[in-house]
Amino acid sequence: MTRKIQIFDTTLRDGEQSPGASMNTEEKLVVARELLRLNVDVIEAGFPISSPGDFESVRRIAELAGDQATVCALTRAVEKDIDSAADALKYAKRPRIHTGIGVSPSHLQDKLRITEEECLKRTAHCVSYAKQFVEDVQFYAEDAGRSDYDFLVRVIQTAIDNGATVVNIPDTTGYSLPEEFGRRIKYLMDNVNGIENVTVAVHCHNDLGMATALAMEGVKNGATQIECTINGLGERAGNTAMEEVVMAIRMHEQELDAHTDVNTREFLKASRLVSSITGMNVQANKAIVGANAFAHSSGIHQDGVLKKRDTYEIIDPADVGAGQSQIVLTARSGHAALKHRLEELGYELEGEALDQVYGAFLDLADKKKEVYDEDLESLVNERDRNENA
Ligand code: KIV
Ligand code: ZN
Repeated sequence: MTRKIQIFDTTLRDGEQSPGASMNTEEKLVVARELLRLNVDVIEAGFPISSPGDFESVRRIAELAGDQATVCALTRAVEKDIDSAADALKYAKRPRIHTGIGVSPSHLQDKLRITEEECLKRTAHCVSYAKQFVEDVQFYAEDAGRSDYDFLVRVIQTAIDNGATVVNIPDTTGYSLPEEFGRRIKYLMDNVNGIENVTVAVHCHNDLGMATALAMEGVKNGATQIECTINGLGERAGNTAMEEVVMAIRMHEQELDAHTDVNTREFLKASRLVSSITGMNVQANKAIVGANAFAHSSGIHQDGVLKKRDTYEIIDPADVGAGQSQIVLTARSGHAALKHRLEELGYELEGEALDQVYGAFLDLADKKKEVYDEDLESLVNERDRNENA
């Protein structure tokens, strides 16, 4: 059996921080139900101290989830935040408090204006304070991706010594290169005592378009929890997209020695739901859930796919709830694709008849982006009329 990688969804917290993507409590509950259908391990439901609405969302999602998923609430390393999170999670069957502090030179000097020693004290305090309320305490080392390796070891050691059950290593600014981020995780695995007894999480941002690659390097080097969002929603350029990491793990399960328990057949539905609720469109060429993710338009590709789907497709679209591959008829399409589509429409054309329709099809395709079924029907009827004239 391969290692189980926990999927920690933060669509409702970090995802919702995406400008323009805010959700009200009812909308968050709709998304939370979908996350339960996806069978994620952890739902980060919100940041309760931030507003009464967010408090209420966390409280209601905690009730909704029952023992189906862990429900997590975010805090800063501040007692009143932790009190509020504990209160919002009061009725959760599997509550988790997610507390933490910035650890990079930039966060220490410019944002928090504290010394490294003060940061360590606050790390110890926030974890032990949260531990009074819940057993499951996750600690995040904000901006770990730009922190000093040895200081990060001391911070994570302090969190574990004070009872953290999960240590989260975020690349908050999406700055790291994947290989370097992997090295950082490995350094922690090799240098923090007792790290093998806790869950190590990676939380990566997409500022350089590498959030998925960063998370995968984390997994290769010992992380067993990935923090992610539907459609990669999140601050600035977003977070690691759940559908991408889960499918990457699925495609490389043996070499990564990893699997997840996510119900991948819900992906397209989840993507559309989050997009319609937040108003954040999904780009057509987005991996896994984009409109073109399983669409083939060039003749060479269409011919290959029609002969054997996996010539140009590594994922069966049905596995992510996307039905079947699409053959899009354009000016780049060849005879094989046209013939295939005509047969689906009930027209068996061969030889010269097919060549004639193909010629007319190309003339039309040069004038429009895509040729539709009704266009094909007209072309065939036109040829028949000419033939019988
Ligand atoms: O990006 C980040 O560092 C975060 C933390 C609060 C986990 O979102
Ligand atoms: Zn984040």
